[in-house]
Amino acid sequence: MSVLIPSLDKIKKLVIEEPVLESATVYLEGLSFKHVSQSYVSWLNDKEVCRENRHGRGNNTIELTRKYVESVDNLDNIAAFAILAKDTGKHIGNTSLGNISWENNSGEISILIGEKSYWGKGVAKETYRLLIEYGFNQLFLHRLYSGMTVRNKAMIKVAESSGMSKEGIFKEAFYKDGIYVDIVMYGIINPAHK
Ligand SMILES: CC(C)(COP(=O)(O)OP(=O)(O)OC[C@H]1O[C@@H](n2cnc3c(N)ncnc32)[C@H](O)[C@@H]1OP(=O)(O)O)[C@@H](O)C(=O)NCCC(=O)NCCS
Repeated sequence: MSVLIPSLDKIKKLVIEEPVLESATVYLEGLSFKHVSQSYVSWLNDKEVCRENRHGRGNNTIELTRKYVESVDNLDNIAAFAILAKDTGKHIGNTSLGNISWENNSGEISILIGEKSYWGKGVAKETYRLLIEYGFNQLFLHRLYSGMTVRNKAMIKVAESSGMSKEGIFKEAFYKDGIYVDIVMYGIINPAHK
């Protein structure tokens, strides 16, 4: 059965005006000014939350956070979402399908769960599932990928349980607190394209 693929303009509109994505435990809704709060700012200043990413240096502010949100708002190569917990309605983290290449039909998934009380509850796995479905079934992308430090055991489990396969290692590609760490890349090909 052939699938009718919408025009590229229509698909790009779905990136600019992110649809709400929903699972049993979370909503993903387009990141906007209404999500910029002191909690969100504090996640990016928290050393534990940011141990495996480039943030956590204590210099994030409301103003910088608003600038980031504004900078991604109207782009057609990144769909940035706030993650909301269904049980409380609380904004608990952010995720994105970014670095979208419309030439290669690929995109990169990233995530940060700032509210630590929500760690280990399957939120990242649910979020990856939603973004992979969105990327393949609504944006008709061919390849999705995600990179993480080799010591980020939780993220490696998230990638593997999302059906991603290990593609390779970028040697000592991440530098923090005086140490270089390898980045491992995971990826998945749209099963409808096989
Ligand atoms: C890494 C992170 C996204 C994981 O999110 P999460 O919602 O807690 O993950 P999940 O509950 O979906 O768990 C995924 C798997 O990792 C496991 N896990 C969770 N925390 C773990 C830890 N500290 N060490 C090892 N495994 C862990 C879970 O048991 C689960 O395993 P399973 O598939 O066998 O059940 C979240 O902790 C986070 O945002 N951390 C800070 C920012 C970050 O590191 N982002 C990623 C940068 S690439």
